[in-house]
Amino acid sequence: MFVAGARPNFVKIAPLMREFAKHRDVFKISLVHTGQHYDFEMSGVFFQGLQIPDPDIHLNVGSHSHAVQTAKIMLSFEKVVIRNKPDLVIVVGDVNSTMACALVAAKIGIKVAHVEAGLRSFDWTMPEEINRVVTDSLSDYLFVSEKSGLENLKREGVSSEKVHFVGNVMIDSLIWAGKHLGKSKVLDDLNLTEKEYGVVTLHRPSNVDSDASLSEICGILQLVSDNIKLVYPLHPRTKIMLKKHGMLGKLTALKNLQLTDPLSYLDFVKLMKESRLVLTDSGGIQEETTALRVPCLTMRENTERPITVIQGTNTLVGKDRRKIARCVTNILKGNFKMGTVPPDLWDGRASQRIAGILRTKVGVDSSHLKAAP
Ligand code: UD1
Repeated sequence: MFVAGARPNFVKIAPLMREFAKHRDVFKISLVHTGQHYDFEMSGVFFQGLQIPDPDIHLNVGSHSHAVQTAKIMLSFEKVVIRNKPDLVIVVGDVNSTMACALVAAKIGIKVAHVEAGLRSFDWTMPEEINRVVTDSLSDYLFVSEKSGLENLKREGVSSEKVHFVGNVMIDSLIWAGKHLGKSKVLDDLNLTEKEYGVVTLHRPSNVDSDASLSEICGILQLVSDNIKLVYPLHPRTKIMLKKHGMLGKLTALKNLQLTDPLSYLDFVKLMKESRLVLTDSGGIQEETTALRVPCLTMRENTERPITVIQGTNTLVGKDRRKIARCVTNILKGNFKMGTVPPDLWDGRASQRIAGILRTKVGVDSSHLKAAP
C-alpha cells in the first residue's frame, strides 16, 4: 500500500508505482491519497503529468494545524489499514502524511518501508525533520538516497540490515520527464528565453510565515530581479502569507519578476532546466538542479541533502543579501560551480532497486499474494 499526500510525494511515488506494476506476480499494489494537498495545481495535475494511477482510496483530509492534520490522517488511515490488511505500507519523503501513516501502520504491526530515509537537517524547527526522524525510527525497510543518510542512520543505531542504499527516486522521475519535455510550452507561454531568466520557489514557514522574513525576501527578489528576469510560481501557502502581510502588491509591482500559479511537473522541470539559476527553499529542487547542473541558491541555513552542496550545484545562502548578490553576479559571469551529478545511484533506477529488494524480502513472506489476480 503506497501513501502519498503532498506535492513532492507524487513525484516520488510515480516511478515506484510504475516499477511495482511490473511485479504483479508478487505484489498487489494500491495507493492511498491522504488529501494533504488537494488543489488541482498541487495534486491532480501531477497525477496527470506523471501518469500516476488514480488513488484507490482518498482520505480527503485537507489543510489544518500540524496536530489536527496528522491526527485526521491517522484516524482515517487506521480504518483503511484495518479494512485492507496490507502486508506493507510504503511511505515517501518527509511530509505530515508520511509520518502519520507510518505511525498507524507500525502500531498495528504492519511493516513500513520509508523511501528517502536517513536525511537529516539537524534543524528541529523544521516540521519535516521531526517527520523524518519519527518515520525512520518506525520503519522496517529504510531506502536511502545519498551517503549522508547511511551515516545518519548508523549514528542513530538503526540496524544495517534494515538499511538499503538505492539512490534517488526523485531523479527517476526527472530522467523520465527528460523524455517528455518536448510537450511543455512553458517558455513560450511565459515569454521566456533559454538561460535568460531565474526561477524562484519559496514556501517554507521559516521564510514566508512572518512579516519580517517576507519583507527581507521581497528586498532580495528586488535585488536579484535588477540583474536577471525572475519567474516565481507561487505555492498557495506563500500566496496566503503575502496577502496576509500586505506584500503581494509589492512583489507584483517588480517589473522584472513574473508571478505564476503553481506549475505542472513537466513545465516546472522544463523551466528549471532552461534557467540560468534557481533560488529556492525546497528540498527536492536542490537535488533536481544538481542533476540538471543548474546553479541553485538555497535560501536556508542548512540542508538535509549535503551531497548537493558538496558535489552538486547547490550553495546555502540563507537570507544573506550580500552573499546572494555575490553568487548571482558570479553565476551571470559564468563563474559558478557546475558540480557533478552524484555517481551514487542517481541513475533513474532507484525504484527498480527498491522493487527488487522488496520482491525478495516481502515477496518471500507473502506467497499467498501470488495467487492474487
Ligand atoms: C507541505 C510539507 C512540506 C513540503 C510542501 C510541498 C509538511 C509539514 N509540509 O508544506 O514539507 O515541502 O508541502 O508543497 O507536510 N494549500 C492550498 N491548497 C493545497 C494545499 C495547501 O491552498 O492543495 C494551502 C493551505 O492554506 C495550507 C497551506 O497551503 O494551509 C500549507 O499547506 P500544508 O500542506 O499545510 O503545508 P505546505 O506548506 O504545503
